[in-house]
Amino acid sequence: AMKQMATTKVPEVRDITRIERIGAHSHIRGLGLDDALEPRQVSQGMVGQLASRRAAGLILEMIKDGHIAGRAVLIAGQPGTGKTAIAMGIAQSLGTDTPFTAMAGSEIFSLEMSKTEALSQAFRKAIGVRIKEETEIIEGEVVEIQIDRPATGTGAKVGKLTLKTTEMETIYDLGSKMIESLSKERVQAGDVITIDKATGKISKLGRSFTRARDYDAMGAQTQFVQCPEGELQKRKEVVHTVSLHEIDVINSRTQGFLALFSGDTGEIKSEVREQINAKVLSLVMDLKSFPGLDLIYVLFIDEVHMLDMECFSFLNRALESDLSPVLIMATNRGITRIRGTNYQSPHGIPIDLLDRLLIIATSPYTEKETRQILKIRCEEEDVELSEEAHTVLTRIGQETSLRYAIQLISTAGLVCRKRRGTEVQVEDIKRVYSLFLDESRSSQYMKEYQDSFLFNETTQPTMDTS
Ligand SMILES: Nc1ncnc2c1ncn2[C@@H]1O[C@H](COP(=O)(O)OP(=O)(O)OP(=O)(O)O)[C@@H](O)[C@H]1O
Ligand SMILES: [Mg+2]
Repeated sequence: AMKQMATTKVPEVRDITRIERIGAHSHIRGLGLDDALEPRQVSQGMVGQLASRRAAGLILEMIKDGHIAGRAVLIAGQPGTGKTAIAMGIAQSLGTDTPFTAMAGSEIFSLEMSKTEALSQAFRKAIGVRIKEETEIIEGEVVEIQIDRPATGTGAKVGKLTLKTTEMETIYDLGSKMIESLSKERVQAGDVITIDKATGKISKLGRSFTRARDYDAMGAQTQFVQCPEGELQKRKEVVHTVSLHEIDVINSRTQGFLALFSGDTGEIKSEVREQINAKVLSLVMDLKSFPGLDLIYVLFIDEVHMLDMECFSFLNRALESDLSPVLIMATNRGITRIRGTNYQSPHGIPIDLLDRLLIIATSPYTEKETRQILKIRCEEEDVELSEEAHTVLTRIGQETSLRYAIQLISTAGLVCRKRRGTEVQVEDIKRVYSLFLDESRSSQYMKEYQDSFLFNETTQPTMDTS
């Protein structure tokens, strides 16, 4: 079945890459592990942090095998050591078939719903029911499209479509609806197309290699594909994924499914959730009659120290439920107060929850690693750095923070372009370093000029994390 799927893959539409380019983790394409799950020093946009990446690789395998339901992982380490990056690496490696729900701890604070309701919804969004279905498609290279205009000038158009594979050729009759979709997709002779037999949907896979020479005037973006082999009719597996949250919303009578589009779901009654759990669980238990049904589940809560005692006890309970996602959390806090209590605890997380977590630690980067990460980010942001500028930026990354140094890349690039340079020089880095303060210089500045700021409270103990 895998082989069949590969040959009939419909090209993905990728609209969002432009927006993603500027994202802080857009250079991360996976965990950079080899087949034996050993991390490569630099791979898939990932640099160093080998032990944590190896551990994350094991978690990834367990998620894929479905052996880890109801378990939770905590990625802990200093700011800027790649905790969020590793979580994104896991998400990338899982691919698009396994949705990965991500949220920041602070997102649960909203006026519209209670904290635990917000968490419940996040959990339900993270649990998906995956339903596999086989459909029949016709896949072939277009030999000829012939459209007959009715002699009277009115009435429905009819026509014929000739499709071939390397082994066979067939003529299909066309109705007006098919003619319309063929012209909408601008299908012409030499295109390789698929037609979904159930819906009549036509997708263009590309142009056949055999026709490559006829069309040397074509744009560079034209994609060439092989003429399909074998039968024209093929079976294709399609996967639908629905999250429990979507099922909840559809079934909660007061809201109706339209709420899915408005996003205005409000609170969902617990009876609705219980009924759905029971139904989904019974379907999953009954795997023999639903061979295509499958559960998938990963929830990532970044900055988990933003949660409070009430939320943590919710997490404890939720992890024990029959339907629970794999929970991945990240924090950069050391021993600190648990929000909503007066107790201190490692990472601000209660001991009983900590006790059930697998903890992955991240550590600060060496100069060489910092240099390498900055190099990858420069490529990602299309900014060229001179050798000396790169050394200075690495130095800044080591002495202030990696994140601050990353921020300077695009700003230095801009300064360089303004003076019509093509390569960022040390001067450009110096310029933006003096324009934008890093955290420690900013604090220093505050201390020196405290009297002229509004709301100056430095007499009170600083940095309460609540
Ligand atoms: N090992 C790495 N390889 C490549 N890029 C990395 C690596 N570690 C961090 N980065 C990049 O450095 C930046 C800072 O890392 P990240 O945001 O993951 O840190 P963090 O540990 O989540 O910090 P915080 O505790 O402040 O949330 C990001 O742009 C991230 O993609
Ligand atoms: Mg982070």
